[in-house]
Amino acid sequence: MANTSSNGTKGNAETDFGFQRVSKEEHSGLVAGVFDSVADRYDLMNDLMSGGLHRIWKQSLIDWIKPRPTTRLVDVAGGTGDVTFRFLERLNDLTNDQRPQIATICDPNAAMLQVARERALDKGYVGDIEFLEAPAEALPLPDRSADVCTISFGLRNVTDRAAGLAEMHRILEIGGHFLCLEFSPAIVPVLAPLYEAYSDRILPWLGEHIAGDREAYEYLVESIRRFPEPDALATEMAAAGFKNIKCRSMSGGIVAIHSGWRV
Ligand SMILES: C[S@@+](CC[C@H](N)C(=O)[O-])C[C@H]1O[C@@H](n2cnc3c(N)ncnc32)[C@H](O)[C@@H]1O
Repeated sequence: MANTSSNGTKGNAETDFGFQRVSKEEHSGLVAGVFDSVADRYDLMNDLMSGGLHRIWKQSLIDWIKPRPTTRLVDVAGGTGDVTFRFLERLNDLTNDQRPQIATICDPNAAMLQVARERALDKGYVGDIEFLEAPAEALPLPDRSADVCTISFGLRNVTDRAAGLAEMHRILEIGGHFLCLEFSPAIVPVLAPLYEAYSDRILPWLGEHIAGDREAYEYLVESIRRFPEPDALATEMAAAGFKNIKCRSMSGGIVAIHSGWRV
């Protein structure tokens, strides 16, 4: 069943923050509070929560991109930089030549970006990455400036999804590729009871005891349940102008990658 979230509709005064209805102005502040609170433990929590599966999901995203040495990536909601680092690692496997700066991590949360900068320093990637503090709805990038635009576990948090999708379409080159990796509410029925128990009990427990913020992880669960079903998201992508849209579900429907092209 398609959910009733209004995040996909431009111009509405209210939207979902988890299961609460809040004004759009409040929404971005509440989401910022979640990521301010978890930034330091975000990467550890990702491994714990997914049992390491998020690494496989992100590798599948990079596989689908099929990066070439000249591919310009913009990773929206890039957070602590995971997708961008995996993209650059894949390029390193292709070529050892010096490259111009080719990857951009864009995220509105300064604390998440700070972790990304520190990780980039550790990995020796600082010169390869541009860091931009901005939301998906207002990307400070020129039209047609990216070959690939990714958003990984980010679209759920975007206050105005239609505006975000339109921006990600705008910055893509003609022939550019958009990929969205996101949790999905479309779990296969056989997994659903187990997944629900995990979401309702174990995730909030991990949030409280490891990340020190139970509510942030309750928000995570609620925001997944409010996120559109795969077909509904494909319809929103089409409304933003994307063509040749495809969706791959993984891990029994726990996550999905949507792919679309600017033509
Ligand atoms: C769950 S994290 C995902 C981080 C990273 N992409 C990953 O896969 O590990 C979600 C990110 O979305 C960012 N975010 C929240 N609101 C946003 C918005 N309106 N536009 C873009 N990113 C947003 C948060 O700051 C956070 O870094």
